[in-house]
Amino acid sequence: APVSWCAQRHGVSGFDDDGYWAVTRHADVKYVSTHPELFSSWTNTAIIRFNESIQRDQIDVQRLIMLNMDPPEHTRVRQIVQRGFTPRAVNSLRTALKERALKIVDEAVALSRDGGSFDFVSNIAVELPLQAIAELIGVPQEDRSKIFDWSNTMASYDDPEFAITEEAGIQASMEFLSYAMNLAAARKECPAQDIVTKLVAAGDSGSLSNDEFGFFVILLAVAGNETTRNAITHGMHAFLSHPEQWELYRRERPATAAEEIVRWATPVVSFQRTATQDVELGGQRIPRGDRVGLFYSSANNDPEVFDDPESFDITRDPNPHLGFGGGGPHFCLGKSLAVMEIDLIFNAIADALPGLRLAGEPRRLRSAWLNGVKELRVTTAP
Ligand code: HEM
Repeated sequence: APVSWCAQRHGVSGFDDDGYWAVTRHADVKYVSTHPELFSSWTNTAIIRFNESIQRDQIDVQRLIMLNMDPPEHTRVRQIVQRGFTPRAVNSLRTALKERALKIVDEAVALSRDGGSFDFVSNIAVELPLQAIAELIGVPQEDRSKIFDWSNTMASYDDPEFAITEEAGIQASMEFLSYAMNLAAARKECPAQDIVTKLVAAGDSGSLSNDEFGFFVILLAVAGNETTRNAITHGMHAFLSHPEQWELYRRERPATAAEEIVRWATPVVSFQRTATQDVELGGQRIPRGDRVGLFYSSANNDPEVFDDPESFDITRDPNPHLGFGGGGPHFCLGKSLAVMEIDLIFNAIADALPGLRLAGEPRRLRSAWLNGVKELRVTTAP
């Protein structure tokens, strides 16, 4: 049943139209992603909600985020923000991020000196993605921990362990939003040689309003932090559970490794769309208005596309995984930045902490759409 109906208990999702079609095959996930005229990101937004009570009145705010827009609004915003993510723009961060990666791993080396264990997530995986976004939008060092707290609060309130209320989530978004809007206003007043200036004060070629910039930064913080952090953590876990792959990585550093780490981790489990008309998919008739869940995690293990999908193989090539999306207009804007971060951090770990070992199983985040890890204990002790 590659496309099948999943009923939800009434009221659990907060939507009247509970339930959605689960789309699990690689080809079908691609088809839905590349046909925004048939499958809207805007109608019910792109995130499947299982256990939060987001109400219709908040949906208008959610729609200000490009992830939840349809063409032509989406096309306009995407064309503007793409300026900040050209290969040249991303490459210009390489030297700064390489230094950061070395420093992060160096600090972890100090932690592991007495042979004790340390948490890989909080000491290594969280840092580089956070620094990368801060670097990208020019956030001063002293404000970086605030950004981290805000993005964490916004993304994690599905998990009861964090005991984060919906109000706290909204509060964090509001504070973050106003921080980013101030940043945009400052650059309009006083342009600089940075991406913020490129996006908000570009003159004739179109630019974002202060609010649009604010919502874009919020999206970056969630989309860029949580995802890359979890790719790095799952990647480390996969390497340490497959020592022959770690050995191979240390020896050869294959350029294909980062893509396999993302396929294996699939940090974004699912996003959703809503059918704009009756449509046939995977042998099912999907009525207009029904929600459709795209399960990247399943598509990335589709045996029609991947040989031996359940083996972790850092030399896998080609590797047409859908971890960054199914190739349509919303395809991950930060893909090349994410791949660069993954390469930089594992290179640094392979050089400075080659003998790392697992000291426990990953403690997972409870979330419907993020394949998250809260803690992964590692050690250098034999
Ligand atoms: C969109 C995954 C890193 C920014 C997406 C989508 C996925 C995804 C699945 C939706 C694609 C679709 O609907 O077709 C990931 C993964 C990452 C990662 C797995 C890390 C391993 C990043 C980074 C940034 C970023 C580092 C930026 C700093 C975005 C943005 C969008 C997006 C802005 C929305 C694009 C749009 O709506 O047009 N990402 N992402 N992502 N990602 Fe990423």
